[in-house]
Amino acid sequence: MIGFPLRKRGIEGDFFQPIKSPPTPLFLRGELLLYIQYWCLMPNLITIYPMKTPPPQLLSISYAHQAQKSLAQAFADAHQLPCQLLSKAQSELTLNFTEMQLEIIDLQNNMRLSVDFIGGSTGHRKKYGGGKGQTIAKAIGIKQGKPIPSVLDATAGLGKDAYVFACLGCPVTLIERSPIVAALLKDGIERGTLNIEFSATIANGFTLLNTDALQYIQALDEEQRPDVIYLDPMYPEKKKSASVKKSMQILQKLLGQDLDTDEILLAALQKARKRVVVKRPKGAAQLQVGQSPTLSYESKATRYDVYII
Ligand SMILES: C[S@@+](CC[C@H](N)C(=O)[O-])C[C@H]1O[C@@H](n2cnc3c(N)ncnc32)[C@H](O)[C@@H]1O
Repeated sequence: MIGFPLRKRGIEGDFFQPIKSPPTPLFLRGELLLYIQYWCLMPNLITIYPMKTPPPQLLSISYAHQAQKSLAQAFADAHQLPCQLLSKAQSELTLNFTEMQLEIIDLQNNMRLSVDFIGGSTGHRKKYGGGKGQTIAKAIGIKQGKPIPSVLDATAGLGKDAYVFACLGCPVTLIERSPIVAALLKDGIERGTLNIEFSATIANGFTLLNTDALQYIQALDEEQRPDVIYLDPMYPEKKKSASVKKSMQILQKLLGQDLDTDEILLAALQKARKRVVVKRPKGAAQLQVGQSPTLSYESKATRYDVYII
C-alpha cells in the first residue's frame, strides 16, 4: 500500500480525473491523513461510472481570485468544463474556488452551498441532535450494549448523514459518484480536520471514495463487507420547490434524479452483513425489489426502510 500525506487545504489534482482512471480515496483515520491510490488496494476490480459531464450552460468552474486560477483550471480541464473568474461566469451553476473553501453557487437564484461540518446545521445537529435516540440511529441498529456497526454510505452527497454515523462512533465509508459533489465533500472534510473535535469524531474512520456505489458494492469481498449499507437517493423534484432545502435545490439542478437505486439496493442486500437502510420521504413508495422492508422508522418528514439480513 502506498500512502503519502494529503495537503490540508486545496484540491489534489488527480483526485478529480477519475472518469478514465481508477478512483482515488481520501482515507482519514484519527488526525492522520493518507492519500492512497485506489488501484493499490483493489486493482482492476472497479471501473468508474462515467459521470455525464454537465453541459457548460449548466455548470462552469470559477475562481474568486487569480491565486485560485490554476486549481480551478486543472479541475475544469479534467472535466471539460469552462473556467473563468467568478464575475464572468455565465452558467446556471458554478463550482467556485475561493481562498477559504470550495463552493457551488446557483447564479440564477443567488444561493451558495459548501460543506461545513463544524458550524451550520451539521454542527448544530451534532450538539443538539439527540445522539443514540435519533430515528436514524435506531434505523442503522445502534442499541445500548450492542457493538457499533460499520457503515457504508453509498450515496454520500454532502456527508450530513455520514457525519451523524461518525458522531455515533461508526467507522464510515462514503461513496459519491459525482466528482463535483465529491469535491465539495472532500473540501469540507479537509477544513473539518483542522478542528480537533471533528478529527476526534471521525477517528474510527471516514473514508471518501469518488466512485459508483453499484460497482463498488458488487466488488466488495468477504472481508470488506460492512455491517450496514445506507442509501439516500435523490428524490424526484418537488413541484413547489420552496419546500425543498436550498442545498437540495442546487443538488437537484446539478444531478437530477437517481434512477439506479433499485439495483444498488439489490446489490446491497447481497453484501451488507446486518442491514440495509433506505431513506425515503415520508409517504413515498418503497423501492421495488421484490422484497419488503423488515421494518420502518419514521421521523417528521422522513422514513427509513430497514432490510434486516
Ligand atoms: C440525496 S443525496 C444524499 C445526501 C446525503 N445523505 C447527505 O446527508 O448529505 C444523494 C447523493 O447520492 C449520490 N449518488 C446517487 N447514486 C449514486 C451511486 N450509484 N453511486 C454513488 N453516489 C450516488 C448522488 O450523486 C447524490 O450526491
